Amino acid sequence: MAQDEIENDVIPAVRAVGGTGRGAFLFDQDTTLRAAPGTGTAERWLRTALGTALGLPLPAAASSGPEQAAKSIRLHLDDALEPEAYRLSVTDRGVEIRGGGPAGVFWGTQTLRQLLGPDAFRRAPVRPGAAHAIPAQVIEDAPRFRWRGLMLDVARHFMPKDGVLRYLDLMAAHKLNVLHLHLTDDQGWRVEIKRYPKLTETGSWRSRTKFGHRASPLWEDKPHGGYYTQDDIREIVAYAAERHISVVPEIDVPGHSQAAIAAYPELGNTDVIDTTALTVWDNWGVNPNVLAPTDNTLRFYEGVFEEVLGLFPADATGSTGFSEFFHIGGDECPKDQWRASPTAQARIGELGLADEDELQAWFVGHFDKWLAARGRRLIGWDEILEGGLADGAAVSSWRGYAGGIAAALAGHDVVMCPEQQVYLDHRQDAGVDEPVPIGYVRTLEDVYRFEPVPPRLDAEQACHVLGAQANVWTEVMEDSARVDYQSFPRLAAFAEVAWSALPAPSRRDFADFERRMSAHYRRLDALGVGYRPPTGPLPWQRRPGVLGRPIDGPPPVR
Ligand code: ACM
Repeated sequence: MAQDEIENDVIPAVRAVGGTGRGAFLFDQDTTLRAAPGTGTAERWLRTALGTALGLPLPAAASSGPEQAAKSIRLHLDDALEPEAYRLSVTDRGVEIRGGGPAGVFWGTQTLRQLLGPDAFRRAPVRPGAAHAIPAQVIEDAPRFRWRGLMLDVARHFMPKDGVLRYLDLMAAHKLNVLHLHLTDDQGWRVEIKRYPKLTETGSWRSRTKFGHRASPLWEDKPHGGYYTQDDIREIVAYAAERHISVVPEIDVPGHSQAAIAAYPELGNTDVIDTTALTVWDNWGVNPNVLAPTDNTLRFYEGVFEEVLGLFPADATGSTGFSEFFHIGGDECPKDQWRASPTAQARIGELGLADEDELQAWFVGHFDKWLAARGRRLIGWDEILEGGLADGAAVSSWRGYAGGIAAALAGHDVVMCPEQQVYLDHRQDAGVDEPVPIGYVRTLEDVYRFEPVPPRLDAEQACHVLGAQANVWTEVMEDSARVDYQSFPRLAAFAEVAWSALPAPSRRDFADFERRMSAHYRRLDALGVGYRPPTGPLPWQRRPGVLGRPIDGPPPVR
């Protein structure tokens, strides 16, 4: 570390910390806030979150004279910086945050909060009137990746709206900026669609639920359900936008659709099975009951997508966001019913397609064109590469690196979220106390050493890697305590991978990350996050007797 550099414990790690290291700014009742035009999100967040946490009112500075600069926090835009980059300068006279754009200024405020200590992460002051000292320093920072995502599966177990808003706060604290909401699956439909009310009347709840992996003999014998009203979604999107987070909705087609078929049986392959007998699925795994590739299905989902697009406006998060994306799923669509269906086979013949894989590509391609005509971009799981992918579509690479490599080589944008590294439903330790262990063992250090850019891509191809995403599938996470346990602390390591300019995986300084984590655990405590302690699960975090899938190697069937 250079002489004038000082150590800090910010997570995700900042690019550079310098300054004299002499003196400190005293953040107290007299501290004012001066926000230049364009910095409103940071200004509002400082007053409502940080000011409230510390019991400091942060009144607007009276004027812009030099004497008012003393004791103030000043927010500015600075064209010389990249849109999400910021410079945070602390002297004994004040704090200045300059950002390349509104998002950069906002990320600077998140760093400022970390410099203030754990009290700044609470919702009310625990030491009213106390002053908080920040050592003088200059931080220069910018993200490595533009897409720093978290996927929440709110379909398998519903996360009520308050939980989603809380996760948006947790994401902002870690400078994550894309919330991918997995809104529909076999086990539940979670978004109100006005023209198809049965999607939520019937599709949003199930009468019982498999408890543990599907091999488990246990059942939770009570109804489970819930959905977001359209106003709930508007609130979530607006709350996210205030934090420079884009919310990307996923409506999964043509597989993972039993809840929709239970609500509207004509969506299924009625010439193969009695779809009126289907209910919202109460078990886990890959489900054979997929959508029928009919005009009726296409029209139905155009209607669904039209309402969903209205709820997730393309311009919600401006130029640094990803609000134009719409996720259509496309994963794990077994083709048995299509093979057996005269209707599906007739469609294959009519369209001159080679097989059922091409039928799926046709189905996805239809919605790719439909979305493009509305100024939106399709993104789907890497199965959408099979059978050919339409021009502007992007891929979530989940089955390892291969899909991401194929997509980038074909000129498609890609988000890297390989299950082997960043599926946070997978257990984080090999110990017998790990609750409902699923799939691979992926420790905090494993996630810290995840490299989103596949090594075999050259610099130009690597430009197609928009970024990375951690995925939280909730088959064995029935409440927010379980989601917290699986997500943290690994999401903090993931955030550093996505934001910070880390060296190659083998050269990453995990010991330094752990040193900074010891401060970060205090922040997570203040936020009320039920993380997995480094020493292992607390007694009430264990789930003795609930069967997972205790393997460590492919294939990790969830
Ligand atoms: C997936 O995990 N089926 C995308």
